[in-house]
Amino acid sequence: MAKTYNIAVIGGDGTGPEVTREAVKVLRAAAAKFGFKLALTEYDFGGDRYLRTGEVLPDSAIDELRKYDAILLGAIGHPDVKPGILEKGILLRLRFELDQYINLRPVKLYPGVDCPLKDKKPEDIDFVVVRENTEGLYTGSGGFLKKGTPDEVALQCSINTRRGVERCLRYAFDLSRKRNKKKTLTLCGKTNVLTYAFDLWERAFHEIGQADYPDIKRDYAHVDATCMWMVKNPEWFDVIVTDNMFGDIITDLGAMIQGGMGIAAGGNLNPEGVSMFEPIGGSAPKYTGKNVINPLAAICAGGMMLDVLGETAAAQAIEKAVMHVTAFKVKSLAAGKMGYTTTEVGDLVAARVA
Ligand code: IPM
Ligand code: MN
Repeated sequence: MAKTYNIAVIGGDGTGPEVTREAVKVLRAAAAKFGFKLALTEYDFGGDRYLRTGEVLPDSAIDELRKYDAILLGAIGHPDVKPGILEKGILLRLRFELDQYINLRPVKLYPGVDCPLKDKKPEDIDFVVVRENTEGLYTGSGGFLKKGTPDEVALQCSINTRRGVERCLRYAFDLSRKRNKKKTLTLCGKTNVLTYAFDLWERAFHEIGQADYPDIKRDYAHVDATCMWMVKNPEWFDVIVTDNMFGDIITDLGAMIQGGMGIAAGGNLNPEGVSMFEPIGGSAPKYTGKNVINPLAAICAGGMMLDVLGETAAAQAIEKAVMHVTAFKVKSLAAGKMGYTTTEVGDLVAARVA
C-alpha cells in the first residue's frame, strides 16, 4: 500500500502562500510519480490572522503540529505587524517547542544561475551549513536593568549547553560522512573572543571527532574568516557547523553566493520528531499577489522535506528538475525577472518531475 505522509502547510505572510502553492504542486507531481501519498492540512498562522484575531499561535497548535510527519512553511513577516512579534511568536516558537535543533542550509550553486563571485562555477559552491537552532543568542535569556534611564543595562545571553552543542555536532559529523565528499567538517566560531561559549564548542568538537569520527577531517575558522573564505574560496567547504547567531548570518551570505533568496532553502530539523521546511527568504510583501516571486526556494524546501522523510529518489528528481529549470528556462532568479510567472515556474518543475 502506498505510504501516506501527513503534512501541515503554513503558507504564512506575503508571498509565502504563493510559493508554497508551487511547492505543493511539485510535491504532488513527485508523489504521483514515485508512488506515495500526501495528506495536506493548511493552517492560516501569520500576520493577517494576528491582525484579525490578536492571536499569534494558539497553544493548541503546537500539540496539533506535533502529529504531522512534517511541516512546510512559506514565510513569516507582515509589514503592519511590529517586527519580532510574528517571528518570535510563530517561527522561533515552533523551532523551540518542536525542538528542531538543526537548521540545515545547503549552499549550492545550480547550473545557469548567476553567481556574484567572479569565476566561481557550480563545482566550486556546494557545501552545507549546519546551524544550531534552539540555543545561543536566540533563547531570549537576558533582560533590562533600569530601562529607559541613563544607567540602563541590556543583557542578551548566549546559552550553550553541552547537550545542545553535542547533538548538533554529531548531526554535522554524520552529515559529513553521509555526503562522502571532502569528509571535512569546519567549526565556525570565535574562539579568540567568545572564550567560554566557543571553548565548549571547540572541546566538544574535538572530543567527539576524535572518539567517534576519526574518518572526518576537523577544521576550524573564526566566523569573520568564514565570511571571507565563503567569498574567496567557497570550494574549500564541505560541511560547516556553527551556533545559532553565526549560522543565521553566514547563511544569508551563503544564499547570495548561490544566486539569491530565490533559491535558498532550509530545514528546521528534529531528527527524532517533526521537522519544518522553509525557503529562507522573507515574505517579500511588495511582490504579494503579483505572481512574480520565485518559487524555487520553496520547491527546494519541499524536496528537502521528501529527502528527510526518506523519499530520496523523489527528492533527487525535484533537485534535478530545479537544475533543469535554472539551466535552461529561467533568465534570472530575481522576482519579476525570471521570464516566467511564479505559477509557470512551478508548472515547469512539476512537468519535469512527472
Ligand atoms: C532565518 C530568519 C529568522 C532567524 C528570523 C526571521 C527570526 O532570519 O530563518 O534565518 O533569525 O532565524
Ligand atoms: Mn536569517
